[in-house]
Amino acid sequence: MTEARPEPSDSSWMLRALAEAGLGRGSVEPNPMVGALVVRDGRPVGVGHHARFGGPHAEVHALAAAGPLACGATLYVTLEPCCHHGKTPPCTDAILGSGVARVVAAMRDPFPKVDGGGLRILREAGVEVAVGVEGEAARRLNAPYLKRLATGLPYVLAKWAMTLDGKTAAASGDSRWISGERSRALVHEVRGRMDAIVAGIGTALADDPLLTARPPGPRVPTRVILDSAARLPVGSKLARTAREVPVLVACTDRAPADRLEALARLGCEAHRFPGSGPVPILPLLEELGRRGATNLLVEGGGAVLGSFLDAGQVDAVDAFIAPIVEGGTHGHAPARGVGVGSMAEALRLDRPEVSVIDGDVRVRGTIPRPWMEASGALDEPRAASVSSLRGGDGAAVDIPGPDSSEPSA
Ligand SMILES: NC(=O)c1ccc[n+]([C@@H]2O[C@H](COP(=O)([O-])OP(=O)(O)OC[C@H]3O[C@@H](n4cnc5c(N)ncnc54)[C@H](OP(=O)(O)O)[C@@H]3O)[C@@H](O)[C@H]2O)c1
Repeated sequence: MTEARPEPSDSSWMLRALAEAGLGRGSVEPNPMVGALVVRDGRPVGVGHHARFGGPHAEVHALAAAGPLACGATLYVTLEPCCHHGKTPPCTDAILGSGVARVVAAMRDPFPKVDGGGLRILREAGVEVAVGVEGEAARRLNAPYLKRLATGLPYVLAKWAMTLDGKTAAASGDSRWISGERSRALVHEVRGRMDAIVAGIGTALADDPLLTARPPGPRVPTRVILDSAARLPVGSKLARTAREVPVLVACTDRAPADRLEALARLGCEAHRFPGSGPVPILPLLEELGRRGATNLLVEGGGAVLGSFLDAGQVDAVDAFIAPIVEGGTHGHAPARGVGVGSMAEALRLDRPEVSVIDGDVRVRGTIPRPWMEASGALDEPRAASVSSLRGGDGAAVDIPGPDSSEPSA
């Protein structure tokens, strides 16, 4: 077994590999984003990333770019190399065949068919291996992958636009527009990387939105409407475009059969959850996870986002605060639901990023989640298998793993 110590330059090379990994965002899911860099005599000689679901892995691209220069070099890779036959052959074979002398991995891959096995094969073959360099950055990058592996549920990003006085619509329900054109263009970019976009029937009735990515991105998200009684009008833009971009009406036993039939004739799919209350959030996420969704964007309104927060299922926030003041006492707020009883219980974003976009303030950040911490522990020696970490954050469901499922919901 050969264990390498991290070197001072490892961190900066790994950050470069992580930037490369991010180029696959939206195209590789449910696989993780992975970047790789081959460095020899202090200079990069090959770089690559996993570019599309089912395509070659990052290591293969980087080693091919390096060619014979890979022999004796160091390979930086943002995730433990795979050691199993998925849609592509094991990366450990390619690494050993290249003659790379040292492998630095940002994090161990908790996917059960890898889970330390790739690092072990490399060590046993005499390659020096270091793991955990920029591990936290790697886990943040692949948080949606980690959540889906640990819980079977998609990663939930909540997006809203609000006025300076915290309103998401006028008293009439009109909300067009709160944020500026550039902010809205950024939201369309985010939509185009999602597997599904969720909105409530309240929003569908008030705004008649399309909820598509314009221009399109790498993915075509399914539009999911929480609509217990299937009230979505057959003349709505959502229903009328259901044959071009999928619409899933999430309803309950309150939905009359004739309404569902009318929507089905237009191409809307319905998924009925048992009961006569609102659409239950955890079963909805389980269903979307089963359908292969890794990333979910919740666009509101306030009732729906409140339910996701009450269910403890908001993982990240992307909020736009426009420099306009509305006044009034109506209840159009970004999130309603039950909420918290004290400020100490409020969710706090971890290291929020704040930017200004033509006068709108954009605040983005993630919410600390147990499965992120659990995955960090895997980089420690003799760590628990990820299977023992399941169950703390929603029941594990039988989901297709990376490299074995269809890429979208
Ligand atoms: N500024 C923004 O970013 C933004 C974004 C979105 C919306 N909006 C505005 O927000 C307003 C609509 O918000 P809203 O709060 O009234 O409606 P909403 O959240 O869009 O929809 C609420 C409805 O969804 C259904 N629902 C089903 N399952 C649910 C669940 N688990 N939790 C919550 N609701 C569930 C319920 O109707 P059933 O009982 O019939 O199922 C409920 O009344 C509109 O004026 C819209 O313009 C603003």
